[in-house]
Amino acid sequence: MLRIGVVGHGLRVGGFLRSTMNTLEPDFRIVGVVDPDEKRARGLMRDCDKADAKFYPTIDEMIRQAKPDGIFVGTRCNLHTPIAVELAKYDIPIFLEKPVAVSMEQALALQDAFAKSKAPVVVSFPLRVTPLCARAIEMVRNGAVGEVMHITGLNYVSYGTVYYEFGYRNYEVTQGLFLQKATHDFDYIMELANSPIKRISANWIRGRIFGGDKPEDLMCSQCPEAHQCPESPQNRIRNNSGGVLEDHLCVFSKACGNLKDGINEEASNAIFEFESGAIGSYVQLVFVRREGCRGAIVTGPKGKLSFDWKNDDGIHYVEHHRPYQTTVTLGTGGTIAHSGGDIELARNFIDVIRYGAKSCSPIQAGLRSVFTCLAAREAAQTHRWVDVRQVEC
Ligand SMILES: NC(=O)c1ccc[n+]([C@@H]2O[C@H](COP(=O)([O-])OP(=O)(O)OC[C@H]3O[C@@H](n4cnc5c(N)ncnc54)[C@H](O)[C@@H]3O)[C@@H](O)[C@H]2O)c1
Repeated sequence: MLRIGVVGHGLRVGGFLRSTMNTLEPDFRIVGVVDPDEKRARGLMRDCDKADAKFYPTIDEMIRQAKPDGIFVGTRCNLHTPIAVELAKYDIPIFLEKPVAVSMEQALALQDAFAKSKAPVVVSFPLRVTPLCARAIEMVRNGAVGEVMHITGLNYVSYGTVYYEFGYRNYEVTQGLFLQKATHDFDYIMELANSPIKRISANWIRGRIFGGDKPEDLMCSQCPEAHQCPESPQNRIRNNSGGVLEDHLCVFSKACGNLKDGINEEASNAIFEFESGAIGSYVQLVFVRREGCRGAIVTGPKGKLSFDWKNDDGIHYVEHHRPYQTTVTLGTGGTIAHSGGDIELARNFIDVIRYGAKSCSPIQAGLRSVFTCLAAREAAQTHRWVDVRQVEC
């Protein structure tokens, strides 16, 4: 039986253990948890864990007394680094939520801690290991498009109100949507390119759609404008526009932040120069409704390959100079969490614990993505090209 420890047992880790891990390997137990909200954390567990899991006031006590084989870190974004730095001392495999850091200071501290640590880390980047992306990477590396010349990444998020009506709206915690969201995309894009991003330029719009002057804790049920507001539960239901369909926090609230102190961007563009000489771009938009898309187009002198996790399961491949094109589809469909990425992460983490397997998403990948996100944010703030700090991957 695998003994699992958790620091921050919230929605993400709760769902991952209860559903993904349980599907793959039901024979595990949560033996120790550090989380200040014990009641909520227990409520998110399987019945067997609900009964058995012990809560500890500190990480050290949890590790010494519960003796976990592997530890999940699922706190909010700004705590990932300090917790990972503390865990680095114990040499126990760590499953670390993204983004692995939210500032340059944190990222450097994390890099330093893991330069000396033997603890293997699986960073929670499901997209890079989805069957769709893994196959696209394989095709590109086998020369399907020739040398990669250009990559476009698209992320039109149809559920983007979450960044203004949940805890994600707290800018102090998230530090914006390059770090919170694009960290996944920059990661898989660099895997597709088989090259890090060396320089980046970016722009954004912020505070033009969401955020505003409404009180910090305003709920739709207390709002005199709910009747006309497109974001009230009744109008979202009428318009089939998604988001939370029950009473929720106002997305036009002061609590979403402001331009001076920081607010999640509604749309952003990034332009890349890869170390390999390829170029690329990325668009992220969080105010579309119903029809989103997330995926990439990779182009080289021989051909073009594209996929979109949201709209179909295929990799579309066109050869430029031969009369062929094909679509590679998945036999099983894309109904599992994160298009099959979570189960691959879980499988790898179990192998890391049991057999000392290589991490499919090591700490260096998490850091590489964070440095790229920080450079993108700086580029958008300063309207300048920014060099990305490089990591040996
Ligand atoms: N990889 C992915 O695809 C993916 C998907 C969703 C969320 N996430 C990430 O997961 C993280 C958690 O998101 P969530 O929605 O589960 O949030 P959540 O608020 O539900 O969970 C956070 C948990 O951390 C606990 N916590 C707070 N302070 C703590 C501390 N000092 N020590 C230990 N525990 C503490 C909270 O009580 C809570 O249970 C976020 O950083 C988010 O970016 C990743």
